[in-house]
Amino acid sequence: MTTILACAAWPYANGPRHIGHVSGFAVPCDVFARYQRMQGNDVLMVSGTDEHGTAIQVKADSEGLSARETADKYHRVIAEDLQGLGLSYDLYTRTTTLNHRAVVQELFRALYDNGYVTTKVTMGAISPSTGRTLADRYIEGTCPICGYDGARGDQCDNCGNQLDPIDLKDPHSRINGEVPDFVETEHFFLDLPALADQLQAWLADREDWRPNVIRFSREFAKDLKPRAITRDLDWGVPIPLPKWENEPMKRIYVWFDAVIGYLSASVEWARRSGDPDAWRRFWTEGNESFYFMGKDNITFHTVIWPGILTGANGEGSRGGEPSAFGRLDLPTEIVSSEFLTMSGSKFSTSRNKVIYVRDFLAEFGPDALRYFIAVAGPENQDTDFTWDEFVRRINFELANEWGNLVNRSISMAYKNVGAIPEATKPEPVDAELLEASRAAFETVGELLGRCRFKQAISEAMRVVGLANKYISDCEPWKLKDDPERRDTVLATALQAVADCNTLLTPFLPHAAQKVFEALGGEGVWAAQPELVEVDEEGGPGYPVLRGDYVHQQARWESIPLKPGTPLAKPTPIFRKLDEKLGKTGPAWAPVA
Ligand code: MF3
Ligand code: ZN
Repeated sequence: MTTILACAAWPYANGPRHIGHVSGFAVPCDVFARYQRMQGNDVLMVSGTDEHGTAIQVKADSEGLSARETADKYHRVIAEDLQGLGLSYDLYTRTTTLNHRAVVQELFRALYDNGYVTTKVTMGAISPSTGRTLADRYIEGTCPICGYDGARGDQCDNCGNQLDPIDLKDPHSRINGEVPDFVETEHFFLDLPALADQLQAWLADREDWRPNVIRFSREFAKDLKPRAITRDLDWGVPIPLPKWENEPMKRIYVWFDAVIGYLSASVEWARRSGDPDAWRRFWTEGNESFYFMGKDNITFHTVIWPGILTGANGEGSRGGEPSAFGRLDLPTEIVSSEFLTMSGSKFSTSRNKVIYVRDFLAEFGPDALRYFIAVAGPENQDTDFTWDEFVRRINFELANEWGNLVNRSISMAYKNVGAIPEATKPEPVDAELLEASRAAFETVGELLGRCRFKQAISEAMRVVGLANKYISDCEPWKLKDDPERRDTVLATALQAVADCNTLLTPFLPHAAQKVFEALGGEGVWAAQPELVEVDEEGGPGYPVLRGDYVHQQARWESIPLKPGTPLAKPTPIFRKLDEKLGKTGPAWAPVA
């Protein structure tokens, strides 16, 4: 049994999620976590809403709310979106908890005490019209590295490099176009040069990461400069040093606090589970940790977060002592997706080409989206979502291939036997099919373990194809005069259905529960997250996602069906979509 920490990137509390968001971080992480649990591994899947920083402040201003009201509003909306998708978080929390604040402050203090955080007076951007700080990402200009003219003050979406606003050419405010003033202000910096040797050596040792991730990260780590980890604003975690703690306009930078969320969420989960030390086994020697995100998050996870951990462990060039959490492990693997686009432009709310998760779920249900993301999502390259392809995938693959296999095999068994039939008259073709479905646990499992989701689901669907071919070849409907052979064919087909259902469970957990029940199963096969309100001592209550995944029955192996188990008349699992939809799109996201 392996102890596995599955981390999904933290969505900003600045709006509901669209399908581009969830295709990159949440769905792949869930598929992985579900597979690992089915393997019998000890899994902790954590994340939460990223609620600090200026993205939330700006959204709040635009809606006439306070930052906290905005965070409250969208934390709930996002948690509902993620629950609707059936994402099996052990804990989905938020960054405005007192627990998170305390954990962030402890790592900051450890880094400071170990000498990896230093201060410097720099030039900060101020809005001349309001006198308030203009945050990095609200400054736009030309990238000093690649020349892209839509670069933001924090990073360039074209070349992916992190930037400082003062380096931009022609800087101006994205909010009102004004040119910021740059004034002197004192900030704390993460001294990445003092951690560079360790980070470079660590990255040099990583094997089997996706090529885009490792190449980009090694390149980034070649030239590390100190990075500012505080900002001039009043919405964020206060700096845990006497002189700074009560400074109203100085806060820890949102990215520094957000990545620490993986640890604080683990700590919160442990406390809520009744064993406050339970988080340790996911963070110390012997565990494995996998982080899932879109490509614009890569360096924060491959360099900044490992840098924070290395410094807080006291393992950089200046040495030091581990923080109060003890020595913490660096990530095992960073799994990054590319972008899901619609007709060429990155999904972006500002460009009004958005397909919201909530609308999508209301019309098509969660597994249609999960299937599309797994089979046609942006795993290795930017991928364009089209309604046309969506309809094709759902109709020809999910409904015609998988749905039809389930439906016709169970229908025939129900009609002829009323129960799982007995296989009393076997022939070599039967063994051949079951051999193939059994072997798939090895091949599909190996691919899932390496986060090759597209290949994994294609391989599972290949077995579905074999089972369909088996039924067509054996023609059980023509075996009226040989009921023993007919029942054997049906029993074999149903066993293949059960095996395929297991192979598809990480991808299609809702459908898998239904197929399990249609085969006469009882109880929970694939568990789903629940949204519950929790309290925090000294702070307000809030909703979280959590679930009991340990007691689900899904296991990654061929589980023999029991002959004689009663069957009911099956209802179709997947609805076919109107082909017109591919041309028009739905009313709430029409094809232009
Ligand atoms: N909120 C960030 C984004 O949407 C992701 C934060 S991931 C974390 O790009 F690791 F920092 F939490
Ligand atoms: Zn650039």
